[in-house]
Amino acid sequence: PLGSILGYTELFKEGVYGPVTPQQVEIIKKVIDSAYYLTNLVDELLDQAQMEAGRINLATISFNLPKMISRVYDKMAILAQQKNLTLLSEIDANMPDTIIGDEKRLQQILVNLVNNAIKFTTSGTVKIFVYRADEARWAMQVSDTGPGISAEAQTYIFDSFRQAENVTTREHAGFGLGLSIVKQLTAHMGGEVIVDSALRKGSVFTVLLPLTLQKDVKDE
Ligand SMILES: Nc1ncnc2c1ncn2[C@@H]1O[C@H](COP(=O)(O)OP(=O)(O)O)[C@@H](O)[C@H]1O
Ligand SMILES: [Mg+2]
Repeated sequence: PLGSILGYTELFKEGVYGPVTPQQVEIIKKVIDSAYYLTNLVDELLDQAQMEAGRINLATISFNLPKMISRVYDKMAILAQQKNLTLLSEIDANMPDTIIGDEKRLQQILVNLVNNAIKFTTSGTVKIFVYRADEARWAMQVSDTGPGISAEAQTYIFDSFRQAENVTTREHAGFGLGLSIVKQLTAHMGGEVIVDSALRKGSVFTVLLPLTLQKDVKDE
């Protein structure tokens, strides 16, 4: 239903059902924004509920990592630009192009972290760095030049519906589900999330994951 709300309002805005005044377009845009917000919230609540119930199936399919990263980059660069932030993305040469995993869920993890980094940072840079951590593991790391997270807050920000207490929280709409989902998804993948931050020092979130490479590749 949210999909059709979005679809019809888009068409409405484009004038498909008759001429719309500039003032109406402004209102329709607000409806669209709210529908996106709701879609996101419903998705997060469903993910959270699914994971709490232990019902989450992960795909193990080989995919092209640079393509996934650049999709995330393209999507998030628009948000960064709106806030005049620099978004950087780098994949270390020691990473293979093709890895095995659940591409959609990995993308979701990365989007969540980049989204937070952009949301909480007011000036400077957000960087995505993908590298091979050691023989057995690879990492997706997101760092920012934002407000940082106190040691105390670091102990609970991964809990569902928890947000760090700070004055600016109100304007950063969200329900505190993102990191909880990131942590649970990562755990399901056999990995872990590490946060390195301090107030006024920016934040670095590192998602360490077991590296599964394609073996037994048949000649085609
Ligand atoms: N990059 C970051 N910089 C500063 N604080 C952060 C960052 N990422 C997360 N946080 C803190 O952790 C809380 C929980 O994050 P999350 O679970 O994604 O919830 P939400 O984004 O809905 O607030 C945030 O509300 C914020 O207080
Ligand atoms: Mg979030």
